[in-house]
Amino acid sequence: MKKITIIVSLMAAALFTTLSHGQVSDKKSATKSAANNALGKEAFSSIGCASCHDATSRVVGPSLQEIAQRYKGKKVVAEIAARIRNGSDDRWGELSHHPAYEGVDEKTARLMAAWILAGSPQ
Ligand code: HEC
Repeated sequence: MKKITIIVSLMAAALFTTLSHGQVSDKKSATKSAANNALGKEAFSSIGCASCHDATSRVVGPSLQEIAQRYKGKKVVAEIAARIRNGSDDRWGELSHHPAYEGVDEKTARLMAAWILAGSPQ
């Protein structure tokens, strides 16, 4: 009987540890993505992307809102980051050209792409 009690309490302890760890890492990843969004937003403003991209209306380039809508539910951060760095043409209309930003590193491009795809939270 004693053995069973020990086994049951060990199992309960293991389950508790798993559950609480799960919660901790969820919290951690939420904090991390909020921090990453802030970095993406900051890079977007400091590099000057806003001169062609408004939050909701089309200026020279598509609005951040329509970009997020077009790729909703798709895992395209890497693809979009590559287009930010290499430039792109005609994806948003004829003669529509996005300049290349070769000086922007991969990590920064990904942070901006992820922030835009997340709906550019403020
Ligand atoms: C000179 C104007 C201009 C600037 C500055 C600019 N963009 Fe663009 N951007 C465009 C245009 C035009 C398009 C549409 C390109 C196309 O049709 O292929 C575009 C498209 C995009 C897209 C959508 C790409 C896709 O694959 O659908 C993203 C994301 C984007 N820009 C992010 C950025 C970021 C981040 C910066 C700053 C590093 C930036 N843009 C600076 C004009 C600009």
